[in-house]
Amino acid sequence: MRLTSLLARNFRNLEELHLSFDAQRNLLIGKNGAGKSNVLEAIYYLCVSRSPRGALDGELVRWGADFFHLEGRGERRRGPFEVTATVRGGQKEVGFNGVRLARISELVGEIAVVSLSQDDTKLTKGPPGQRRRFLDIAVSQISRIYLQMLNDYRRTLQQRNRVLLVARESGGVRAESLEPWDEQLVSLGARIIVERQSAMEELAPRAIALYGQLGGGRDSMDLVYAPTVGDGTGMSGDELANEFRDKLVRTRRAEIERGQTLVGPHRDDIEVAVGGRNLRTYGSEGQHRSAAIALRLGEADLLRRHIGEDPVFVLDEVFSELDRDRAGALVTILEEWEQIFLATTRSDSIEARDLEAATFLLEDGAFVEG
Ligand SMILES: Nc1ncnc2c1ncn2[C@@H]1O[C@H](COP(=O)(O)OP(=O)(O)OP(=O)(O)O)[C@@H](O)[C@H]1O
Ligand SMILES: [Mg+2]
Repeated sequence: MRLTSLLARNFRNLEELHLSFDAQRNLLIGKNGAGKSNVLEAIYYLCVSRSPRGALDGELVRWGADFFHLEGRGERRRGPFEVTATVRGGQKEVGFNGVRLARISELVGEIAVVSLSQDDTKLTKGPPGQRRRFLDIAVSQISRIYLQMLNDYRRTLQQRNRVLLVARESGGVRAESLEPWDEQLVSLGARIIVERQSAMEELAPRAIALYGQLGGGRDSMDLVYAPTVGDGTGMSGDELANEFRDKLVRTRRAEIERGQTLVGPHRDDIEVAVGGRNLRTYGSEGQHRSAAIALRLGEADLLRRHIGEDPVFVLDEVFSELDRDRAGALVTILEEWEQIFLATTRSDSIEARDLEAATFLLEDGAFVEG
């Protein structure tokens, strides 16, 4: 799928910006602070109703304004589409092909997007929560019910933790007061793990292959889903539920001591290794960058297979830290995707020179030249 135009009104520093994209590759060039990342953020937001940097809706409204409005038009295999997003007074309204969506999750599977940025090294350097978030975002773009399951799981977890805290204070808990929460936690948790398992089964081999391609075969990456329940490979929901239930019983004493739930998908991780060693502990800067890029490309591949179309790619300054060979390999990899948007500060950067792209010059949130 591809985006053919974008209108941004009062979105961060973009007061009124209208851009038309007719090319596969679109390059945004501008000085620091010009608004390049904001344009990429607007594109991403239109596709999934969420900021790639995790910003709150209110932070996206231009300072001094009381709303923002975004409009995007594009083409899919099924035909043209139009998507709009408005945030005013803390209220969000999303429209798709002229219909106001009752739930944001109705956007799932309509238009897909993958974002790559320098921030992505958090994925491999950061705590497990970063990798769970990565997986959750990937899975929720291909499954409408996944987000709902996650929310229900989180709510159950909070309630269960509250019971555990009370138990800690009062020096004990009767099994009956935890049981209803245990059953909900187990049934939702097992379903979440099943979804994560199957997503990782598809995503991991692709990401591993892409890492190899990026590094010209000089080193190799390993990627495994490491859940706290099950072994991460092909276990059924029932098997997972049984194991989860057993683990809860076994850790109950420790859970009461700590006042929190110690097993379950909220504790899962993805283990990443390069050259057989844990990347988080031993990886070089370039290995972290390449692994993060490979994970994102793996995510894109997953979306492509499930949605049957290429997601839109937004890339924010990802080339600047890569060595010449890796940058060249990334250019080649990107050639095969239907549409990409890139931001760079320099018109003589590798991506500006090597990718045949339509260029957009930005200054103070405005388009100055094509
Ligand atoms: N809510 C907001 N309202 C108005 N301006 C904002 C808002 N949020 C951020 N900005 C401003 O938008 C400007 C452009 O930000 P952006 O991140 O898009 O720059 P950039 O072109 O990507 O720069 P860099 O090359 O440094 O990454 C910044 O100066 C920032 O302060
Ligand atoms: Mg930027």
